[in-house]
Amino acid sequence: MKFFAVLALCVVGAIATPLTADQVNLVQSSWAQVKNNEVDILAAVFAAYPDIQARFPQFAGQDLAAVRGTAAFATQATRIVSFFSEVIALSGDSSNAAAVNSLVTRLGQDHQTRGVTRAQFNEFRAAFLAYLQANVSFGDNVAAAWNQALDNTYAIAFQTLTA
Ligand code: HEM
Ligand SMILES: *[C@@H]1O[C@H](CO)[C@@H](O)[C@H](O)[C@H]1NC(C)=O
Repeated sequence: MKFFAVLALCVVGAIATPLTADQVNLVQSSWAQVKNNEVDILAAVFAAYPDIQARFPQFAGQDLAAVRGTAAFATQATRIVSFFSEVIALSGDSSNAAAVNSLVTRLGQDHQTRGVTRAQFNEFRAAFLAYLQANVSFGDNVAAAWNQALDNTYAIAFQTLTA
């Protein structure tokens, strides 16, 4: 079963370099330090890249300081952080590769439909990594683990997010 899941992913070219067990631990333990800061994380992304905020009908054109305390903001922040938590929790076991592939493929599709671009996903990545770097113990090993995890995830998302 594992063999076929891995084979299927290799055929579509989704997973370039799987994380080592050590890297999975580094991602999971560093994520645990900030995963309850969902509002702060989304606010940091919007502050760094207002074009991302502008894509959200419920936040477009509004002052970040005013929207960041709203229920709608908490809802969206929780969606994004929960998505990361779900993928990170699955990533420890290679037999979950097909499940991760399907979740992230759908994420790419949904965002393609909304007119989100690869460039914006890359902006999100930059702001997200900056947040981590400032707010978790972030050595070269942690940076390398997160970069590999994001490379793998984005490779899947960009198969359906093509703009
Ligand atoms: C980088 C630029 C991004 C933009 C501009 C963007 C924009 C949006 C928008 C407009 C919505 C719909 C919100 C609503 O109508 O209530 C949404 C939903 C969502 N976004 Fe994003 N998003 C981005 C990146 C991401 C990333 C990187 C993730 C996760 C890793 C993510 C996860 C989600 C989830 C889980 C939802 C709700 C479920 C869904 O409808 O797909 N988004 N996003
Ligand atoms: C670090 O975390 C704090 C509190 O969550 C946040 O205000 C700050 O923007 C973060 N740093 C970066 C560089 O994102």
